Amino acid sequence: MTSHDLRFSDYENIVFFTGAGMSAESGVPTYRGAGGIWKEYNYEEYACQAAFDRDPEHVWEFHNYRRKLVGACPPNPGHRVIAELEKHRAVTVVTQNIDGIHQLAGSTTVHELHGGLWRLRCDHCGNRDTRRDAPLEDVHCGACHHYWRPDIVWFGDSLDREVFDQVIKAMETCDLMVAVGTSAVVHPAAQLPIVAKAGHARCVEINPEATPLSDIYDVCVRKPASEALTEMAQGLL
Ligand code: OAD
Repeated sequence: MTSHDLRFSDYENIVFFTGAGMSAESGVPTYRGAGGIWKEYNYEEYACQAAFDRDPEHVWEFHNYRRKLVGACPPNPGHRVIAELEKHRAVTVVTQNIDGIHQLAGSTTVHELHGGLWRLRCDHCGNRDTRRDAPLEDVHCGACHHYWRPDIVWFGDSLDREVFDQVIKAMETCDLMVAVGTSAVVHPAAQLPIVAKAGHARCVEINPEATPLSDIYDVCVRKPASEALTEMAQGLL
């Protein structure tokens, strides 16, 4: 079966489980593989609580660099297919991406498993904000003037329990689960497709490359995200 035979029109309740490959065609670098962020930047220096506690300015330099880069990246045709599909089917997006591009494209039910680049929280006074400034000039909380902390799930952090529970429910109840552009190596997110499979959803992987989880899928589409998603939407969009 190819992406031409596999049509969204045959399903009612669709979950898209997306990773960095979903945004690659928007110009956002992936984390692993050629040009991957973690090849160039050591996460222990930029993306963990210990690094932030040690040197928040240094961590903010990295996140402001990312804000500038990601802020200039528009939704690609794949994001737009997923957003448009909401007009015809029940659609839930479960994303590991922090870039907010699904929401920019118009998707309304988006669970951000790993937090969001534009979201800020103050672990000192509990204040929260969402700011798309790229870069964020003042990295201090407006209420108590301690450093904002990017509301991102860094290495060693736990996932938000409430978000995770909603995601599990979505995986258990969908009839089609499409994983798009994830290397399936970061846990616990990587295990979520197994939940959909156990719940009897048809499971599809869209990724030009095989992943450690490829064997569990009913169909693997070895194409870039926007090409595969556009083909699967034929007859509906
Ligand atoms: P990775 O960078 O690990 O994997 C990206 C995947 O996208 C690879 O399997 C590529 O083959 C695939 N890919 C590349 N271009 C593609 C395209 N045009 N269409 C479809 N697929 C494509 O990214 P993630 O799996 O998202 O965590 O990484 C998971 C987590 O690791 C991220 O959320 C991040 C990172 O550390 C945090 O920041 C907490």
